[in-house]
Amino acid sequence: MDVLGIDIGGSGVKAAIVDTKSGQFLSDKIRFKTPESPSPKKIFTGIEDNFLSKLKWKGNVGCAFPGVVIKNKVYSAANMTKKWVGINIKKKFSQKFKLNCKALNDADAAGISEIFLNKSIPKKGTVMVITVGTGLGTSIFVDGKLVPNIEFGHLKMYGDCAEKYASNLARKKLDLSWDEWAARFSEYLAYIELLVSPNVIVFGGGISKYFDEYKSNLKCDCKIIQAQNKNNAGIIGAALSAV
Ligand code: BGC
Repeated sequence: MDVLGIDIGGSGVKAAIVDTKSGQFLSDKIRFKTPESPSPKKIFTGIEDNFLSKLKWKGNVGCAFPGVVIKNKVYSAANMTKKWVGINIKKKFSQKFKLNCKALNDADAAGISEIFLNKSIPKKGTVMVITVGTGLGTSIFVDGKLVPNIEFGHLKMYGDCAEKYASNLARKKLDLSWDEWAARFSEYLAYIELLVSPNVIVFGGGISKYFDEYKSNLKCDCKIIQAQNKNNAGIIGAALSAV
């Protein structure tokens, strides 16, 4: 089935048409910059203008969102605006665009895509997926089954949440070198390992395309692998979830 995968993020909103049998893109990836104070109104207008109208899309939509999403409804939106809390994304797509949509957390979407496509992930055991971008997204799969809405980016570290300490936004804001950022992220990994004891950690998000720059400085006891679908994982996983 062809599904439009949309990944709403703190710095950009991205989309592509995905073949859900293969997980491959059937269109170019399109993107618009996340506006200041990204309210639902601004984002839905952006989605309509940049994706739906341009692609003349009439099929199913999968939508990844950077917050807790239960039965298509948003329960948290740390890096968006509070106006998102309580929004049912599926209902909005149906009312505004007459489209069928399935919404889920962005890190869950990224994880679904990795479990589906990444051959180096073991089928059994605990797999932890961490996406590093504006926030820190986390998802856990036990024997291939998702435990949804794990919010380990909000674990407390040094009196604030972990994503304020070790996300890509933190690296940029504090102008950290790769070595400095990797040291911080390794502390976060140690914390995750203490809590979850995963067999494998899959490292994804925008910054995963630079994995070679810092992988030798990431310290953790379990195997850590680069997300195969890098920054496209959210789009692919969102599409896969909407079949
Ligand atoms: C949100 C998560 C999201 C992550 C990555 C965090 O701030 O709470 O739900 O997965 O950012 O976007």
